[in-house]
Amino acid sequence: MKGIILAGGKGTRLRPLTKITCKQLLPVYDRPMIYYPVQTLVSSGITDILVIVAPDYAGQFLHLLGSGKEFGAHFSYAIQEEPRGLPEAFIIGEDFMDNEPVTMILGDNIFDTSFSPEIANFTTGGLVFAKQVPDPQRFGVVEFDSHMRAVSFEEKPKDPKSQFAVVGLYIYDHHVVEYAKSLTPSARGELEITDIHKLYLKHNQLKVSTFTGLWEDAGTFDSLLAVSNYMAAKAKGEVR
Ligand code: DAU
Repeated sequence: MKGIILAGGKGTRLRPLTKITCKQLLPVYDRPMIYYPVQTLVSSGITDILVIVAPDYAGQFLHLLGSGKEFGAHFSYAIQEEPRGLPEAFIIGEDFMDNEPVTMILGDNIFDTSFSPEIANFTTGGLVFAKQVPDPQRFGVVEFDSHMRAVSFEEKPKDPKSQFAVVGLYIYDHHVVEYAKSLTPSARGELEITDIHKLYLKHNQLKVSTFTGLWEDAGTFDSLLAVSNYMAAKAKGEVR
């Protein structure tokens, strides 16, 4: 299993914090945000990792993360010239993946969970994770039937069909590369990860697993503060 950390984008929602560096290098309590997705992958047994970054801050990532040795991992780097959407990561990462399955984590998604059983048991298709949230409009949303089987996906729906947000950690087999290449940009001008889920669902090859552990998309001021407070409390032994 290969790993991709997608850490490009413009971070416009966090201006002026992101005027001098990028979102994924901002502090979350006592460490840069990207340390958390690195730790999530490494603690799940993934050590061969491609870090995809925007051109402006590529040097800062290299300076911070280096070869990966310090983390018990091996990092490769690639540039995404423009934020054309999450699935572009699989097109950029095609050679790196080399027909193997991949776990992609977004550089601003913070978990306090290891995914090692799911990753160790993964064989084919796609596996994504959903968590109940109070504000599903901010995310990709999955609708389940009465047997908790996924029946539809929508990206940032105004009127969500469920409270289940699809979190930013995705496990796919190598077909994801051809699926990504087949997509066309959405109305907001991006390739959408939700369209990848829909393709796997159409081929009857998608599993959606729910979970209840900590998850934050640290892309807003409030979520950045919330996850920093959580990590501070954890470091002081106030949460287990
Ligand atoms: O956080 C989970 C959500 O992430 C999912 O529920 C959504 O389905 C998914 O579309 C995504 O939504 P966001 O609104 O959070 O996407 P955002 O544009 O903020 O991008 C997520 C991260 O990926 C962010 O750290 C920037 C980076 N990124 C984004 C794009 C569009 C890239 O590196 N390249 C890109 O082209």
